[in-house]
Amino acid sequence: MRFTKLFTIVIWIGFIAATSAIRGIPTGAADESGKDLYKIDCKVCHAKDSPHGEYTPMSLTQDQWRTFFDKKFEKTHKEVVLDEQKKKLLEFLSPDQIKKIKKFCVDHAADSEQPQTCSE
Ligand code: HEC
Repeated sequence: MRFTKLFTIVIWIGFIAATSAIRGIPTGAADESGKDLYKIDCKVCHAKDSPHGEYTPMSLTQDQWRTFFDKKFEKTHKEVVLDEQKKKLLEFLSPDQIKKIKKFCVDHAADSEQPQTCSE
């Protein structure tokens, strides 16, 4: 009887620990900020002195970024491959991630309230 009770308590503690550990794990893509994504997926090819041209959010205006993401991004980056992932950028990025990067660029464009270079 005693043993069973103790056993139940141990199981419960284990169960609570396991579920809180699961809750503690960042939920992957949902927690990535547009800035982090920009650093990982854009800056690699568009840093200072890059042969592809230096692009930071404040390189373009809000309208230019919107046009870029709506009309040009897929066309200009169709064949672009991320070395580290050995995968095409467009296959690698989810629509949600692209949306976040777009928002980061627009929010920090040259004519935005808080222009950013994404250098820090
Ligand atoms: C693996 C390299 C690579 C990555 C990663 C990359 N780019 Fe590019 N990007 C290029 C190349 C190459 C060009 C030049 C295309 C051309 O010559 O028209 C370019 C062009 C551009 C241009 C100029 C397009 C124009 O108007 O002609 C912008 C803006 C740009 N990239 C933004 C981004 C953003 C934002 C990201 C991240 C979502 C990104 N790039 C990720 C390689 C890359």
